[in-house]
Amino acid sequence: MSVTLATVSYVGATILFILSLGGLSHPETSRRGNLYGMIGMTIAVLATVFGPQVTSAGYGWIIGAMVVGACIGVFAARTVKMTQMPELVALMHSLVGLAAVLVGFANYIDPAAAGQFQGAEKTIHEIEIYVGILIGAVTFSGSIIAFGKLSGKISGKPVLLPARHWINLAGLLIVVYFGREFLHAHSLSEGMTPLVVMTAVSLLFGIHMVMAIGGADMPVVVSMLNSYSGWAAAATGFMLNNDLLIVTGALVGSSGAILSYIMCKAMNRHFISVIAGGFGTEGGTPAASSGTQPAGEVVAVSAAETADLLREAKNVIIVPGYGMAVAQAQHTVYEITKFLREKGVNVRFGIHPVAGRMPGHMNVLLAEAKVPYDIVLEMDELNDDFPNTDVAMVIGANDIVNPAAQDDPGSPIAGMPVLEVWKAKISIVMKRSMASGYAGVDNPLFYKENNRMLFGDAKKMLDEVQAALKG
Ligand code: TAP
Repeated sequence: MSVTLATVSYVGATILFILSLGGLSHPETSRRGNLYGMIGMTIAVLATVFGPQVTSAGYGWIIGAMVVGACIGVFAARTVKMTQMPELVALMHSLVGLAAVLVGFANYIDPAAAGQFQGAEKTIHEIEIYVGILIGAVTFSGSIIAFGKLSGKISGKPVLLPARHWINLAGLLIVVYFGREFLHAHSLSEGMTPLVVMTAVSLLFGIHMVMAIGGADMPVVVSMLNSYSGWAAAATGFMLNNDLLIVTGALVGSSGAILSYIMCKAMNRHFISVIAGGFGTEGGTPAASSGTQPAGEVVAVSAAETADLLREAKNVIIVPGYGMAVAQAQHTVYEITKFLREKGVNVRFGIHPVAGRMPGHMNVLLAEAKVPYDIVLEMDELNDDFPNTDVAMVIGANDIVNPAAQDDPGSPIAGMPVLEVWKAKISIVMKRSMASGYAGVDNPLFYKENNRMLFGDAKKMLDEVQAALKG
């Protein structure tokens, strides 16, 4: 393929990636957005493989790697459950980081690449390598820890080392010092030591940063690592002199940064504290609850009683959470919604920005079940309507409806905006037990006078509610 054709293909792929991001911003256009992304990526891969930078001697390696990668991809897509998606995404981010590290080292060692540059150009190339490996290593180790935390293999509790900010500062100074050493190195072996030391420090920083972040604040970290993986890809693009990788990396990096900002706002957290690590906690120690444990009577209801309450209601707000995804109850939720709407009940859905385990998790599930978009509303759009609501039905959600976020300044989720379901005339919480949610904090909602608990698997209980409604 000629250089011109490859460049034109890259421009086309870039445009498709931008259209893809635009499409993904709304559920109605998201399928189209995905399609644009897939076409863009196919063009990008073909233009790179058959482009001027690859010689025919490399085809065997490339095709072999693509077959292995495709098999792993197909296997993951078929076996990974929807609820495991965030872990998978974290793992994918770690691979982008690892690729940046490996490309960085390969670029430094490769005599052909090194011989290409002289003077200022050589310095710029070395800075690209140093920064690329740095971002890649932080992304790699941070994403591995995020994967561990999201999959429950590592405790979700923040691990806060004493003087952690000083440790971070020391790490930064070491990285700057060895960066200077690296740029002043006269030979490959002389430059290798600072590069390896910096890589080790960056890996430790990534681990330290994510380990210090507590349960309910993980969504911000996931989107931040998404952004880092974009910058790691862009750095790889600079090292490989590949314009498309630079642009694509920058698109992922900046859209991830915007998402992190939106998440921070939704969670009422400061962006800088995320980067410094250990947020969601206070004064260097894990934030303890103020000591007032929720207490009182818990009133359990049956599926038949729930059906009665729903039948008599005029306004119903359904708040889905992670448990709905686990139980795969979205289809029954929609059947019930349809039935109630046909009976003239005003049913709406309230979506918290961090409900479930990934951005847009609930929207995807509800769209899959064909729930009309116009009754699926963001938290801010309907939070004031709870006092006029007859029944607020919470399906497998916990942290996102926890009043302690407003009432208990010592709570680890203090300050996080929540859906105020307790302001409805009756709230019904559907879950299997009294267990806490992702953040590991008790929920005073369960003990409120106007709250009812419908214990059991969400799908099973909703099937019973549906049968009772129709019966
Ligand atoms: P959670 O607070 O995790 O609560 C989910 C509840 O669902 C649990 O208390 C569990 O109680 C119940 N449950 C589990 N399986 C169930 C089943 N089969 N049937 C019925 N109930 C079931 O979820 P949430 O309210 O959606 O809040 C999300 C949390 O995850 C927040 O803390 C958020 O910060 C965090 N997080 C979010 C993201 C993103 S981006 N959305 C990413 C990482 C972390 P039982 O065990 O008693 O059934």
